[in-house]
Amino acid sequence: MATKNKTVIVTGAAKGIGKGIAIALAKDGFNIVVADMKQDECDAAAKELQALGVESVGIVCDVSSAAAVEGLFKQTVAKFGKLDALVNNAGVYPFVPFDKMTEADWDKVMTVNLKSVFLCSHEAAKVLPPGGRIVSVSSVASLIGFEGLTHYCASKGGINAFTRALALELAPRKITVNAVAPGAINTPGASGGGDEQTKQTVALIPLARMGEPADIANAVAFLVSDKSDYITGQVIVVDGGWTLR
Ligand SMILES: NC(=O)c1ccc[n+]([C@@H]2O[C@H](COP(=O)([O-])OP(=O)(O)OC[C@H]3O[C@@H](n4cnc5c(N)ncnc54)[C@H](O)[C@@H]3O)[C@@H](O)[C@H]2O)c1
Repeated sequence: MATKNKTVIVTGAAKGIGKGIAIALAKDGFNIVVADMKQDECDAAAKELQALGVESVGIVCDVSSAAAVEGLFKQTVAKFGKLDALVNNAGVYPFVPFDKMTEADWDKVMTVNLKSVFLCSHEAAKVLPPGGRIVSVSSVASLIGFEGLTHYCASKGGINAFTRALALELAPRKITVNAVAPGAINTPGASGGGDEQTKQTVALIPLARMGEPADIANAVAFLVSDKSDYITGQVIVVDGGWTLR
């Protein structure tokens, strides 16, 4: 199947890993819907993607809002006539010690990171054709523990479990559902720790460097492509070997 004229929605694509994914998929010929929180940031990313020779549009969408997500999919189908793939990437990871964690902290992370995956996948499942793809960005935090991230670890573990269950439900329609679990990736969201923390993190990574958005994008592009046709319900860890020991 040629990629030409295929359309993908990438959530949280204005920056970081999501933008890296959007660039990789644009290079593979996908038309890209950039879904993110601010119109100017969506437009700037869409402009960069257009320069790669594909169609791209920026649509403001808070993925934790059912009404906003419904609007995102309606506008996408109105503009491109169809949808071939969804990449659930938007997510937040605020560090909060467990004894200080409020119900609001918990709800925020669970709605942005996990409920959003339900909402977007639910809309996608209504319109994806056979051969359609859903790929979600999980985290190594779905597999190992991190202090200050109980809510985040729970949300990403939820994505892995959701991925397996939805893969079963969509298999009869030949739609695959997979996830990628990044390790420590250089992004605007993850840049708060400073040089010393980066050094300490790199010391734990067998491949001895931070990951880049392109490292995650390569795995996502594979899972979105026809080359992954017989893979479903899987979580692919992309972490430079961080979680091997
Ligand atoms: N950076 C890492 O080391 C790392 C590691 C593992 C997993 N991840 C996951 O990768 C994904 C992207 O992370 P990143 O580091 O690129 O983050 P980032 O903060 O650099 O970028 C995230 C983007 O998502 C958008 N976003 C946030 N909330 C949103 C919402 N409610 N609706 C729509 N868009 C929203 C932001 O505006 C931003 O553009 C997240 O799911 C994160 O949990 C990141």
